[in-house]
Amino acid sequence: MLGRLQPTAPDKILKLMAMFRDDPRINKVDLGVGVYRSAEGTTPVLRAVAEAEAQILRDQTTKSYTALAGDPAFHQALGDLVLGDTADWSRIAAIATPGGTGAFRQAIELVRRTKSDGQVWVPDPSWPNHAAILSETGTPWRSYRYVDRNTGMLDRDGMLTDLQGAKRGDVVLLHGCCHNPTGVDLDLKDWDQIAAICEQTGAMPLIDIAYQGFGRGLEQDAQGVRLIASRLPEALIGASCSKNFGLYRERVGLLLALTDGQTQQAVTQGAMEWLNRLSYAFPPDHGARVVTKVLSSPQLCDNWLTELEEMRSRIERLRRQFAHALTEATGRDRYGYIERGKGMFCLLPATPDHVAALRESHGVYVIDDGRLNVAGLSEDTIPQVAAAIRSCGI
Ligand code: LMR
Repeated sequence: MLGRLQPTAPDKILKLMAMFRDDPRINKVDLGVGVYRSAEGTTPVLRAVAEAEAQILRDQTTKSYTALAGDPAFHQALGDLVLGDTADWSRIAAIATPGGTGAFRQAIELVRRTKSDGQVWVPDPSWPNHAAILSETGTPWRSYRYVDRNTGMLDRDGMLTDLQGAKRGDVVLLHGCCHNPTGVDLDLKDWDQIAAICEQTGAMPLIDIAYQGFGRGLEQDAQGVRLIASRLPEALIGASCSKNFGLYRERVGLLLALTDGQTQQAVTQGAMEWLNRLSYAFPPDHGARVVTKVLSSPQLCDNWLTELEEMRSRIERLRRQFAHALTEATGRDRYGYIERGKGMFCLLPATPDHVAALRESHGVYVIDDGRLNVAGLSEDTIPQVAAAIRSCGI
């Protein structure tokens, strides 16, 4: 039976992780997978997280099951962080999920349960697992224009023109902030126009927010989500705590469904809990409990905000230094978009051959499509990477 299986091609991010691990060169630089690295090149456990874990370890009296939806205190704490004043809990259904990927997967399963004959509109480009999950689940999807690869800027006209083609029953996938892989974010006017298109067409937004606090700041990064929440009768929001709490391997995510009133809220809540039941019964609890503890304790929360701001401002500084180093090394005036971009990623104007040359000749690992994790750079590696990019003619 198992002999019938065909080999599974790993996605391009996972493939690169394995190649980097197996590369014996000591001066190799990992700019592939999206994890934050400190100046020392490590991805530390945040101090507020370690303290919350210590308290939980000390006080927890049971490891018995929570609930299919996870802990309501977690929904409230993280939901309020994302939605701010727009959180109207009388219309929100919520489940804890294993990471943002779990939230996205459950969002798609929920859409499929509606038996809508619509399709999901996905920005081009997007995180590769979005398309992979849609294709694997047999969910119809199509791309909409997002970034102009020549300028590295938002293709605003292309995006809005394409989305005008959405219809009732369709879902529009949006990155809440720090777009992965481009770092090109929507401004409030763009969100406003997208909300208007959803109002006119009846399409429902699905917002993946995995980097809140890594772009312009915790509140500013949530402005788009909040605008959608305050304007539209329905929306799905998948939030992740992998990056902003550094809880990657603990798999902490939340799916929020904004519904059109209390009756729908109850039915949607039931459907989402059932999806958890079918997938893994109860969602993971430890990381969610840590997040709840951090957000609900004023002192831990203050400490976390300081650490988050340290990460955010370091990434901003690296973006600036990297853009300047590239301009200097190549003599080309085309890298300003890296400085203007938000969050961990930028897209190099590189072909797959360029990317292979960077890796093979210089030990610099970026994803096939040219995505580079700026948060994997350091003051020490920026000159090396800029020189490698110049020597590859990018
Ligand atoms: C990334 O985009 O590199 C991260 O979100 C890790 C992943 O799971 O792909």
